[in-house]
Amino acid sequence: MNFDAANIRRLRPLTGDGLQLYIETYGCQMNVNDSEVVLSILQNEGYRYTEDIAAADVILVNTCSIRDNAEQRIWGRLNEFKAYKKKKRSLMVGVIGCMAERLREQLIERERLVDVVAGPDAYRDLPRLLRQAREGARSVNVLLSQEETYAEITPVRTDKNGVSAFISIMRGCNNMCSYCVVPYTRGAERSRDPETILAEARDLFAAGYREVTLLGQNVNSYRWQSERGTTDFAGLLEAVAGIDPLLRVRFSTSHPKDLGDDVLEAMARHSNICRAIHLPAQSGSTRMLELMNRKYTREWYLERIAAIRRILPDCAISTDLIAGFCTETEEDHRQTLSLMEEVGYEFAFMFKYSERPNTKAARHWTDDVPDAVKTARLTQIIELQNELSLRSNRRDVGKVFEVLVEGESKRRSDQLFGRTSQNKVVVFDRGDRRVGDYVRVRIADCTSATLTGEAVE
Ligand code: SAH
Ligand code: SF4
Ligand code: F3S
Repeated sequence: MNFDAANIRRLRPLTGDGLQLYIETYGCQMNVNDSEVVLSILQNEGYRYTEDIAAADVILVNTCSIRDNAEQRIWGRLNEFKAYKKKKRSLMVGVIGCMAERLREQLIERERLVDVVAGPDAYRDLPRLLRQAREGARSVNVLLSQEETYAEITPVRTDKNGVSAFISIMRGCNNMCSYCVVPYTRGAERSRDPETILAEARDLFAAGYREVTLLGQNVNSYRWQSERGTTDFAGLLEAVAGIDPLLRVRFSTSHPKDLGDDVLEAMARHSNICRAIHLPAQSGSTRMLELMNRKYTREWYLERIAAIRRILPDCAISTDLIAGFCTETEEDHRQTLSLMEEVGYEFAFMFKYSERPNTKAARHWTDDVPDAVKTARLTQIIELQNELSLRSNRRDVGKVFEVLVEGESKRRSDQLFGRTSQNKVVVFDRGDRRVGDYVRVRIADCTSATLTGEAVE
């Protein structure tokens, strides 16, 4: 027998011992991908994945701290788990992800809701933490790392379609936007070895996947140095796109201060890099942007939009916007609305400002915009965005788009849905098409959220 490292790993006792593991995920796409990494680590230890919470021996909640309502929702969920704990005394509940770092003490102390707490850089330690918890000790590891990228761990995919997958290319964030907790919950920015990213993308393609989304808080600052030279984001993007013309490549999120023409030009060279850029503006007022520490002005942002229009005329642009940040006036708010009009966003995520403890904004400025004003401004922003999305969709009616099919339409089983390169959802009659196919669809009608059409040859 050949006792290589892999065999020795397999011969030592597995801590999971067939225990059923249930994972619930909140927050952003990075958290979704992290849950898949956690699943991979724990399956290797003999835990078995279940989608049935009632059958679980371990419940892990991958948490988000980005806004107060995200955290409140998770506290509510943890309280609900008490009922499961009553039924099954041995049930272990673990909190992982962004709340772990921020709230470890409260999590462990408050009514003993939680047995294990593991921060975003401590997932390799989960087998040990769970073993300790099984022996009755509450266990915590929230150490943040300068290096951890889980580079060689192959995530266990939990998506339902087998078409589209996330690949994390970096972790953490160095940008210190004054309102944001992410640099505190996820630590410093670090990039992942491009060879491991490419290997993961190639394996996904071979397994039938047709779309990968490269993830990072600021993908444009991706950088990897080795003896072979430096890989920047444009280089990485082209390398992934080069795997196969049938593999679509998306990425998120771009920071306006770092989105260079090199990335736009790399996109222009590869039709399989999707024509969609998520470029969060946060505000249209330069005064607000300065307070937010975003490091660009309204003019800079609009110049980047002009560059996208110039180099990629068919590119969709989406954004994130915050209403009611500290000291925001009606005039600042109007500038956000006018920026939206000027850009004509296809899509937006829109939020009320939520003060996060210990951020620069919380330490230096009062959260002084009354909630009713925040709500009114957010409503205006949402209404305008619905109008802009509808206008953009109407311009697509009559055009033909290549759609990558992701699944069956939720409303009708004789219809499929998929996305255009611009990331718009299209619904059309199934015919003999299947999930994972590329189908050319002529758009016949639309709402502000969806395009409908017919397949053409
Ligand atoms: N790294 C990404 C965004 C990550 S968080 C970027 O910089 O673009 C996703 C979005 O949540 C942010 O773009 C911002 O619009 C919003 N957000 C972050 N902190 C917030 C807060 N304290 N209150 C309200 N919205 C917030
Ligand atoms: Fe937060 Fe800014 Fe980093 Fe985005 S870039 S995660 S908003 S600090
Ligand atoms: Fe939330 Fe953490 Fe993502 S705070 S948005 S889960 S990085």
